Amino acid sequence: MMIRAKKSLGQNFLIDDNIIKVIVNCASIENKEVLEVGPGTGNLTNEIIKKKPKRLILIEKDENLLNILKEKFSYNIDFINNDILQVSENKLSNNKLTVFGNLPYNISTEILTKWIFNLKNEVWFDKLILLFQKEVADRIISKFNTSAYGRLSIISNWKLDIKKKLILCLNLLIQNQKLKVHF
Ligand SMILES: C[S@@+](CC[C@H](N)C(=O)[O-])C[C@H]1O[C@@H](n2cnc3c(N)ncnc32)[C@H](O)[C@@H]1O
Repeated sequence: MMIRAKKSLGQNFLIDDNIIKVIVNCASIENKEVLEVGPGTGNLTNEIIKKKPKRLILIEKDENLLNILKEKFSYNIDFINNDILQVSENKLSNNKLTVFGNLPYNISTEILTKWIFNLKNEVWFDKLILLFQKEVADRIISKFNTSAYGRLSIISNWKLDIKKKLILCLNLLIQNQKLKVHF
């Protein structure tokens, strides 16, 4: 079936198997609980499932795409048709979630800042493996006194310890209440 990407939902689907593998290998997820934000056509989802997580939660705003995924995957998945900006992530599980997201580019910074500002004592995730547009990633990781440095860099580095994992993938993980992002 031909699926046309909706610009209004920041859709942009990953098709390169090698890149998908690299992204999913950013975390060890066997027997862990995993959240994928915006699974889209399920290419990343498919690779996540191969790693045998204990539970997989998919949150997708596009109901049509979610219905297609329901037909496609029979794995132990919670399908949630909702806007990630409206979700209380800390109520999704009693365990820490590993999060994957090739984030919708039109709201990627909104999602990240929501997660950072909502961080309380109880942190609901152990790792965030997120894809941003390069310009946004550059702002997230930029250092003081560089041209990309600004509000987003300050907010991100306030709670997150960031390292670039690869040119496409930022991997954020909690360590002593600071998150680490690996290149
Ligand atoms: C960049 S695409 C990534 C799709 C897929 N994960 C991939 O990598 O091929 C972003 C996905 O997020 C979904 N999306 C957009 N806005 C959303 C929102 N507010 N809440 C949840 N999902 C959203 C889109 O429908 C789309 O499937």
